[in-house]
Amino acid sequence: MPARRATQVRLIYGDARSMPTVPDRSVHLVVTSPPYPMIPQWDHLWKELGATEYAGMHDVLELAWAECRRVLVDGGLLAVVIGDALRSDRSGFALWPNHAETLVRVARQGLRPLPYILWKKPTNKPNAFLGSGFLPPNAYVTLDCEYILLFRNGRLRRFPPHDPARSASRFTRDERDHWFSQVWEDVRGAPQRRGSGRSGAFPAEIPRRLIRMFSVIGDTVLDPFAGTGTTVRTAWELGRSAVGVEIDRAVYDDLVRTSWRLGPSPGRADGVRGPARRSGAGRSPGSAAVRSGA
Ligand SMILES: C[S@@+](CC[C@H](N)C(=O)[O-])C[C@H]1O[C@@H](n2cnc3c(N)ncnc32)[C@H](O)[C@@H]1O
Repeated sequence: MPARRATQVRLIYGDARSMPTVPDRSVHLVVTSPPYPMIPQWDHLWKELGATEYAGMHDVLELAWAECRRVLVDGGLLAVVIGDALRSDRSGFALWPNHAETLVRVARQGLRPLPYILWKKPTNKPNAFLGSGFLPPNAYVTLDCEYILLFRNGRLRRFPPHDPARSASRFTRDERDHWFSQVWEDVRGAPQRRGSGRSGAFPAEIPRRLIRMFSVIGDTVLDPFAGTGTTVRTAWELGRSAVGVEIDRAVYDDLVRTSWRLGPSPGRADGVRGPARRSGAGRSPGSAAVRSGA
């Protein structure tokens, strides 16, 4: 029998550091990419959040990781897409190892680290490097991988025998062999334009794989740093409920506009379209826009 589960999209204008409208143990999977510490694109945001140096930026993110742990069910997973940064400070040029710092900070909040994925984006400029010509020793290795860090909350998730939603969510042997290898080299980055700036969006293929690998149809997927809503839309398309949290008013407004164009959720196996219900379209921080799909 096909899985039939009601699905819903909730978009919250709020702060990932405190998500009081997301209940404890109500989320099965978090798929997210925060603003990366030490990347100039996000300097203005870090300043607004009260962090001007590396450790302070990770202190901000750690509060969000604590919230993720609170809202995850036992056995729920957290997937964090993050890249390291290269930047000079008073002591000179250096690598800022955001992936390592995030591993430590999330683990400190009680989530168990699992083997992670290296996302090596295909590039048209394979020889790009930082340095001077062909003379040693002052050139730098190219930073061309991002990390998809994976964590589990508590014990393995348990399901009743022959759970229909779990069976309907199975991946193929090819998908398993491909997706569960440690290096992904076949996923191109997403276009980055948003108005006059950059969105920091990842391509839908990243959440599409992660959601199919680590959740079942009818589950709830959260993105506490929702941005353009790639995770939210992909979760919905895969028959999962989705919750997106976004702190930037203009980004949030765009997110609500684009998410209202979502088609019916395939999680609804009988094909019935749910009404697009708009409940209080998030005019103040913490408020939410809701769309029901079944
Ligand atoms: C790297 S972007 C996420 C991009 C997203 N994965 C996508 O595909 O569009 C990070 C987003 O987190 C938002 N953000 C930053 N700090 C936040 C916070 N404390 N709470 C909620 N959202 C935050 C930023 O405004 C930005 O839109």
